[in-house]
Amino acid sequence: CGIVGFTGRREASPILLEGLRRLEYRGYDSAGLVTSTGSQLHLRKKAGRLSELGKVVSAHPAPGCHGISHTRWATHGGATDNNSHPHLNETNDIALVHNGVIENFAALKHQLQTSGVQFRSDTDTEVLAHLISHYYHGDLVTAVRQALALVKGTYGIAVIAKAEPGVIVGARLGSPLVVGVGADGTYLASDANALAGFAEKVVYLTDRQICVLSETDWEVRDQDLSPVSVSVSDIKNFLGDGDAEKGAFPHFMLKEIYEQPETLANAMRGRLEADNATAHFGGLNLGAQQLRQIDRVVMTACGTSYHAALVGEYLFEEFARVPVEVEYASELRYRNPPMDRNTVVLALTQSGETADTLAALRESKRMGHTTLAICNAVGSSIAREADGGVYLHAGPEIGVASTKAFTSQVAVLAMLALYLGRTRHLSSTQGQRIIAELQALPGVIRKTLECHDQVKLVAQKYAGAKNVLYLGRQYLYPVALEGALKLKEISYIHAEGYPAAEMKHGPIALVDENTPSVFLVPRGNVFDKVMSNMQEIKARGGPVIAIASAGDHEVSAVADDVIEIPDVPEYLQPIVTAIPLQLLAYEIALLCGCDVDKPRNLAKSVTVE
Ligand code: G6P
Repeated sequence: CGIVGFTGRREASPILLEGLRRLEYRGYDSAGLVTSTGSQLHLRKKAGRLSELGKVVSAHPAPGCHGISHTRWATHGGATDNNSHPHLNETNDIALVHNGVIENFAALKHQLQTSGVQFRSDTDTEVLAHLISHYYHGDLVTAVRQALALVKGTYGIAVIAKAEPGVIVGARLGSPLVVGVGADGTYLASDANALAGFAEKVVYLTDRQICVLSETDWEVRDQDLSPVSVSVSDIKNFLGDGDAEKGAFPHFMLKEIYEQPETLANAMRGRLEADNATAHFGGLNLGAQQLRQIDRVVMTACGTSYHAALVGEYLFEEFARVPVEVEYASELRYRNPPMDRNTVVLALTQSGETADTLAALRESKRMGHTTLAICNAVGSSIAREADGGVYLHAGPEIGVASTKAFTSQVAVLAMLALYLGRTRHLSSTQGQRIIAELQALPGVIRKTLECHDQVKLVAQKYAGAKNVLYLGRQYLYPVALEGALKLKEISYIHAEGYPAAEMKHGPIALVDENTPSVFLVPRGNVFDKVMSNMQEIKARGGPVIAIASAGDHEVSAVADDVIEIPDVPEYLQPIVTAIPLQLLAYEIALLCGCDVDKPRNLAKSVTVE
């Protein structure tokens, strides 16, 4: 999941460990590094947290100013010491780390085993180490190129050979890789964040490029090893000073929940134009003509970003009257939906590196569609590859469970809907009203966070639940999905989100006195309908937790527990109701003794298909 390499004039292992620490938030289940002293490769690797690897390196230092390292999120083979990267060839003189998946590894492994190669791990990666070794005759980059020619799948790799002191070879296909240039040496990483403070300049590799690094130099080549010219940029420190620290908060997730008044303000800063009653975006790259011609939007994403897209469907349809389809990126990429020229594909992604979302974006581009991205990570693959886009400016999201990115995505979607709507039928009075409501939002969220004490009491009461239902309608149906996802992700309690009325067609069978239902029921158009659904649950003995408008006696007369939130127009309710659900998942996870920021099995940035 994370790669860091260094070659230069300083001890490599502290740099490698620090770089990996900065990528920790992406999620991983084992870590390792290898350094070279020319005469020997020094391999250290360990399943579990990075601190475990740190202990191994303290006890058995890995000397040398040349090395590569990795945090692994298991795909093929369990999270064991053996399966951790780096992987070495049989004679221990070539070492490799790899992000991605070698899809034809089974066939390659079979061939290698038939020719007598002994494998030490269950990973797909190890075949690459042996293949490179097979082709190695003193020239690492040529061997890497020959090995990669046999591979189907995705990779970001870093490779070193004992016989070539100071040299790191990297290659990318579908998994990000960036070269860093600093005063003390040359770096390679899967994410520029790992290099902030070390490197001054960065070069982002594109697919099928290969790079060769030495202590004082670097070059990028194409797949035939011909040199290519690349653009060198100043490192954009996405993890700004202090951003990557928890400060007074016990967890990043809680910090990020509490940042939302500011992150929402940042998402809107400079983008609302009261005079023209519209929104304005610097990077959309859509001409006026093209904008008017959009007759359909396909939104695509994974995880929490997918839930934000579902809210976007309601927003675009209400304000811009543009038909929207929302599709999981992992599904869209293998579908061949009929789309006409005027369909725009909008990818939503916090990290900008989710493999399925990137692939769906590329497939859409290939089919000739205009692609846009709503993205948080500046300079990420999706941000760079989309034709245009909008950054969230939410700052780094470190907690694996996404919180502030979701609310910012919804805010950006609301602004985009306003913008598109104003090129169509939305009046300037309507536009001005929406702007005023958006501008009030950060203050409303500050007030909403005051529900935290109520949330704690509710969490204490229900932390023992084995199943929880989350129910909402219309704009709040996607939030029900998101609330359930938050709880699942960090407390490991089974939860399902459902449209409140649809619950009658199945999930109601789960309802008993031990299965609470969280109802999203602030005042709005469907209030009465949701209240009826709530009665249906109560009639079957199910406990009800209601997220409701402050002071709503009708709700408190029926629900067992109420968490109060401020009233906002319906289209902003997804942002406001998300806050208590984030806090509820957080508090329950704490009571369950779970590792909130690093939940088991999950990765922040899923760079495999
Ligand atoms: C992972 C993360 C989720 C995230 C999803 C999509 O599963 O754990 O929090 O929502 O990926 O990530 P993206 O960066 O594309 O929004």
